[in-house]
This record gives sequence, structure tokens and C-alpha cells, in this order.
Amino acid sequence: MQFKIATLPGDGIGPEIIEQAVKVVNAIGEKFGHQFDYQHAVVGAAAIDATGDPFPEETYEACKNADAVLFGAIGDPKYDNDPKAKVRPEQGLLAMRKKLGLYANIRPVSTFKSLLHKSPLRTDLVDGADFVVIRELTGGIYFGQPRGRSEDQNTAFDTCVYTKEEVQRIVKLAFEYAGKRNKKLTAVDKANVLATSRLWRETVQEMAGDFADIELEYMFVDNAAMQMIQWPKRFDVIVTENMFGDILTDEASVITGSLGLLPSASVGIQTSVFEPIHGSYPQAAGKNIANPLGTVLSAALMFELGLDLQDEAKAIREAVDASLEEKVVTEDIAEGKAYSTSAVGDWLAEYILKK
Ligand code: IPM
Ligand code: MN
Repeated sequence: MQFKIATLPGDGIGPEIIEQAVKVVNAIGEKFGHQFDYQHAVVGAAAIDATGDPFPEETYEACKNADAVLFGAIGDPKYDNDPKAKVRPEQGLLAMRKKLGLYANIRPVSTFKSLLHKSPLRTDLVDGADFVVIRELTGGIYFGQPRGRSEDQNTAFDTCVYTKEEVQRIVKLAFEYAGKRNKKLTAVDKANVLATSRLWRETVQEMAGDFADIELEYMFVDNAAMQMIQWPKRFDVIVTENMFGDILTDEASVITGSLGLLPSASVGIQTSVFEPIHGSYPQAAGKNIANPLGTVLSAALMFELGLDLQDEAKAIREAVDASLEEKVVTEDIAEGKAYSTSAVGDWLAEYILKK
């Protein structure tokens, strides 16, 4: 089959890690007889530098016309300590989510046997932990109006807004996702304080009857933050609003001890976007040392969820497992010799081809 893939490397280590994912995707193409046409496009600080706009129209077009988008990372330190910056790289990411209607961010958290000892948590707590956080991505306090400053600049405000429809579509996806896994859904909110959370809980309650085979529980977000560390294995699928999901998934990423390995998928109304959950790691940019596995595993998610090619997804995951077993890894997880970003990419591509 033939597929169009938009590649958006973004900033920092983005270009290097996307390059490895492309190598791996091409190896899959060769092995399984698919052809991939890539369209490269700029986003984030790279796009501001090139066009003044962190998510330019041509990038939007490239995404819309593609079967899937592979995304690297966004962010540049030159904007971080400048609260007055008029355009920020992150606006590119938010604009992409909004314009492509990417209302669900799927972040699987699973462990790798060979890396368990890297977790800051006890091995017996994390061994076998395997859950998915489904984060609402285009609503809530990230986008609600009004937002801004009072005239005298001394008061600032953001607004958290959700409509019932927004809650229904993400909760439906989460119930369905749980149905394909271990049939347990935890709806995380702050319904003891927030009106939006009460709407969430009410909506989940209304929908629960349609998914009677799913074991449902509600949990306040502060409690969820605690339980995720105390007993991560208790979770299967978690569904939550935008900002709670942002915070909980950073927390979840350290459980496995390998932030550089976690992939994510953002799905919704138009083309889906696949990206690692880590950031642009500017200190490592251009040094060929960053871990490409989060992006490579995002490509696996692209095959699984975006293109519905399960054997292809499996072949990538097997290659990644093998690289970990053989210790062909970058310095962030290496114990002896550290391989470069590109060496890991080459090894994975070769493994797939000779398998
Ligand atoms: C993420 C990031 C973004 C977010 C930032 C970069 C805007 O932290 O994808 O989790 O907050 O959504
Ligand atoms: Mn985040």
C-alpha cells in the first residue's frame, strides 16, 4: 500500500529522532511492501524562525493531506524565560491540536523488563504496570475564554470550559479503549471543587449504562496522583481533562524509568499525530545522543492506530525489545557502551530487514 506521511521534526532533538523513525518506517515499507511518501514541514520555534508563525498554513495543509503525522518535539529555551514573547513555539502545538481536531491524546505507560531497575520506584511495584492515560486535548483551561490580564495588568485569568459534547466524545473513546484492554476505566476529576468536573462526572454516569461490561470508578485527581506512584498496577485506562492529563502523564512517565521511550498518539477529527511524550531536549540538539525510541515507538503506534497495520506495529516493537536486550541503546539508558542516536536507528532498521 501507499501512504502519505507528514513529518514535523520541530525543535531541539526533533530532527534527529524523526530521522531515525523514518529509517525504521522505511525498513517496514521494504519488508512489508508499502511505500511511504514523506512531506516535511516546520512547526514550533523552527517555524517561527522560518515564517514568523509557529504553525504555518503550509504545515496545516501537509497534515490535512497526510494519512498520518509523525511529530518530533517542540520548544526552545530562548522563549522560556521571556514571559512577554508575543509568539511562542508551544502555540504551534496547541494550534495543530485545535485545527486538526485532535481531541484525544493517548499515552500508554508500559514497562520494559530490561529497564525496570531504572525506575525510581521499587521493581515489585512497577513490574507489570501497564496502563493508558487518555487525555482530553482541545478543551479545558488550555483553550477556554476569557483569558488574559486586567487593564492595570495586576490580575490574570484563565477559564476552564467544557461542553457536554466534548466530554461525551472523549469518554466514549475511553470506554471503547478500555473494552479492548482489561475493561477497567478510571475517570479522574476534581468534582468536589470544579463545575467542569461535575459535568464530566455526570456525563460519565449517563454513559456508563452503554458500557456495562466496563468496570468504572471515579477518582479525584489529587488521589490519582498519589495512587499512580503507590500502586501503578491498579490502573488500566484513565480518562481525564486536558490539564490533569498533562500533569498526570509526566508523572506516569517516570514510573517506567524511561521517559525517552514513551510514545503517544493524538487522534480526533482529521489526521492523527504520533509523537514521543518527551520534550525538545535542547541541550542535546545536534549531538547525536538523544534516545530515538520514543519516536520509533510512536511510529509503531502510527501503524497500530493510524494505519491499522498490526503486524507492522509488532515488528517495530520487537526490534525495540531486541535493541534493549542487546543493549544497543543511547547514553540515557546505557550501562556500558552508549550508542549514538543514528546508530540505534540503523540497528533497528537492519534488525527489521533481516528478521
Ligand atoms: C505536552 C506538553 C504541551 C502541553 C506543552 C508543550 C504545550 O507539555 O504535550 O504534554 O502542555 O500539552
Ligand atoms: Mn506535558
